[in-house]
Amino acid sequence: ATSAEPYDVVVIGGGPGGYVAAIKAAQLGLRTACVEKRGALGGTCLNVGCIPSKAMLNNSHLYHQAQHDFARRGIDVSEVKLNLPKMLEAKTNAVTGLTKGIEMLFRQNKVDYIKGTASFVSSTKLAIEPIDSSSAASEIEAKNIVIATGSEVAPFPGGAIEIDEEQIVSSTGALELKQVPGKMVVIGGGIIGLEMGSVWSRLGAEVTVVEFLNGIGGAGIDEEIAKNFQRTLTKQGLKFKLNTKVLSAEKKDGKVYLQAESAKDGKAETLEADVVLVAVGRRPYTQGLNLEAAGVEIDNKGRVVIDDQFTTSVKNIKCIGDVTFGPMLAHKAEEEGIAAVEFLKSGHGHVNYAAIPSVVYTHPEVAWVGKTEQDLKSEGVKYKVGKFSFAANSRAKTNLDTEGFVKFLTEAETDRILGVHIIGPNAGEMIAEGVLALEYGASAEDVARTTHAHPTLSEAFKEAAMAAYGKPIHM
Ligand code: FAD
Ligand code: NAI
Repeated sequence: ATSAEPYDVVVIGGGPGGYVAAIKAAQLGLRTACVEKRGALGGTCLNVGCIPSKAMLNNSHLYHQAQHDFARRGIDVSEVKLNLPKMLEAKTNAVTGLTKGIEMLFRQNKVDYIKGTASFVSSTKLAIEPIDSSSAASEIEAKNIVIATGSEVAPFPGGAIEIDEEQIVSSTGALELKQVPGKMVVIGGGIIGLEMGSVWSRLGAEVTVVEFLNGIGGAGIDEEIAKNFQRTLTKQGLKFKLNTKVLSAEKKDGKVYLQAESAKDGKAETLEADVVLVAVGRRPYTQGLNLEAAGVEIDNKGRVVIDDQFTTSVKNIKCIGDVTFGPMLAHKAEEEGIAAVEFLKSGHGHVNYAAIPSVVYTHPEVAWVGKTEQDLKSEGVKYKVGKFSFAANSRAKTNLDTEGFVKFLTEAETDRILGVHIIGPNAGEMIAEGVLALEYGASAEDVARTTHAHPTLSEAFKEAAMAAYGKPIHM
């Protein structure tokens, strides 16, 4: 094929949704290009999201452990000191290594990587504004286009708080702070607020999380888990102000003063901070795409409207990831990327939205899949609960890491697993077994009668399953 011939597929956006879609399309024998404007592949997730935040979470946890936890393990260390520039450098190296890795995968799979901004000229033609200003703008043609342009930080409603990424930061600025703030106020007790709040709290900041709702953890978390989670983080030194709505911010004499009011009785208060993290959600990103030229429709929340085959209002244009419906998660975007190009190639593809895990990478981690207890109550489903505490698990005890529990929710009549919720060490890895169980329609007894290696944390998972239909052994 010559470059003048149309591509089979052009993917707009090189995030987890887009780059995975592009690789899968090439693997299926389609001539594929991926257009990305940020100068690096991997999107929000690899550049300013999942990966850098996990680097900071892991290393801040080790630092905190060295300071507060090593001594009881018989490890005496003197002068544990934070070298923040070095910690930030380790984070940057993790990011660069992984984004470069995707470039290599593109070469191996023969995906053309186009460094530029794409905008629609028509439903089959894209204008490309190159990143490198010395190159000329061009146009490419494609039989099929996949929109995977992701999301961006949602601005504070009404523009009442302006993000400067130094003193009033979004998650992006919170991954780059040059020094540990004295007082940090986090607006929003969702996943970003809790992960980044944990990082800076462990590094020495006095962190207060202000949350409008009556609980933390964001959408979809089981209420019992959320309560335990809050208790655990409070023990670690984070402060919480629930039922409190931040209204505006004012910068004065090197500080930020936040106006807030009680969501219950409207009582006003002022909060003082050295640094404020705004973490009130993300919104779909379609700016500059010129969707109108192709006739692609968006809904009133700015999401690209798709059908159950990821097809937009235009037949040859599909859309996946944060820019369309569903949870804003990297693994959800990846699954959609694969399914969307499978639909393109063969007419068949599938994502099971009932079995998408969520993980909060604090310590302990929090992870879940499927229905929460409050879901089942509101749906009027008769259910059973099986719980097992890590305090009764041999490995957790050995590791001196016993905070948390595993909770199974099963259908009362059939023992079928409806949801699994974990707060505890390694919950993010452990939830994979719950996802698989849900995917295969397993019963709690199926899981409980499966041999789990001893001594592992996963025995707590097995025993929670035992508790759902009978009795666990060790509790
Ligand atoms: P994105 O990753 O946003 O990628 C879209 C890409 O498209 C961008 O690189 C953008 O530059 C490019 N683009 C946009 N418009 C154009 C255009 N016109 N032309 C060319 N390119 C364009 N999710 C998890 O599952 N686990 C986590 O641990 C996790 N941690 C997170 C931590 C933080 C701090 C944040 C902010 C998010 C986190 N997320 C996490 C969410 C995750 O990052 C997103 O769900 C995921 O990146 C969505 O993938 P995507 O491909 O849909 O979009
Ligand atoms: P979020 O939607 O999870 O949480 C925002 C919180 O802010 C909500 O609880 C909301 O009630 C609260 N809030 C909104 N306005 C407020 C106000 N004025 N005052 C006080 N509280 C207010 O959004 P967040 O944390 O910004 O994350 C965005 C997305 O990024 C999420 O959808 C999540 O899926 C994704 N993400 C995933 C991660 C993971 O999987 N580990 C990590 C980080 C982000």
